[in-house]
Amino acid sequence: MSHPIAIAPSILSCDFANLAAECADVARGGADLLHVDVMDGRFVPNLTLGAPIVASLSKVATLPLDCHLMVEEPDHLLEDFAKAGARWLSVHLEACRHLHRTVQRIRALGMAPGVAINPHTSFAELEPILPFVDFVLVMSVNPGFGGQQFIAQVLAKVEAIAAWRALHNPALFIQIDGGITPQTIAAARRAGVDWFVAGSAVFGQADRTAAIAGLRRAAQA
Ligand code: DX5
Ligand code: ZN
Repeated sequence: MSHPIAIAPSILSCDFANLAAECADVARGGADLLHVDVMDGRFVPNLTLGAPIVASLSKVATLPLDCHLMVEEPDHLLEDFAKAGARWLSVHLEACRHLHRTVQRIRALGMAPGVAINPHTSFAELEPILPFVDFVLVMSVNPGFGGQQFIAQVLAKVEAIAAWRALHNPALFIQIDGGITPQTIAAARRAGVDWFVAGSAVFGQADRTAAIAGLRRAAQA
C-alpha cells in the first residue's frame, strides 16, 4: 500500500537570489515538502549550499525541509542540519562507511532518517538498512544536476522496496528523485512511490501552481 502523493519541489532549479519568494510560491501552489539538494563537489561533481542557508530558509519556509545530502562521509554535518531545522534528512548509501551509525545519529538528533541510492545500487545492497530508516530516496538520474533524463529501469527496484514495505514496515515512505515530469510520474506511482521530487518540472515552469497540480493529476492517471 502506498501513502498519499506528496510533491517535493527541488530548490536546485529555483532562482537562488529570490529563495524566500520562490519557496513561498510553491507552498502557495500546493507543494507538500521542500527538497534541498546539498552537494559537496566530491560525491557529486557540483557544489550547492550548506546548513547556513537551510537555517535561514527554515525561518521563512512554511513547508517541512527535506534535505538530500550528496556528500562523502556526511557525519560531521548532521548536527548542523538538525540545528538548521531539517525535518527529513537523507544520506547516500554509497557515501557512508558506517551507514547504521549515521542513520542512528540522524534519528538521535531529532530528524527523520532516509537513505538515498544511486541508479546502479541494487535492492540487495539496500535491504539491510531498511529496518532503520523512515524513507528511501531512489535516484532516477545520476545525482549532481537538475534537468536530466529519467532512468526507467530503477522502477524495478522501487517495486522490490514496495514489496519489502508490504511485508515489514507499511510506514516506510518511498521517494523518487530525478527526471520526474508529467510523462514519467505515473509509472513511478504505479511502482509504489509516495513522494516525488521535481526540480525543473516545477521551478522551471512559469506557473508553479499549475505545474504541481499537473504532476499530481498525472500521477493518478
Ligand atoms: C539531482 C538532485 C535532484 C534534482 C532533480 O542530483 O538530487 O533533486 O534537483 O532535478 P530534476 O527534477 O530537474 O531532474
Ligand atoms: Zn535531490
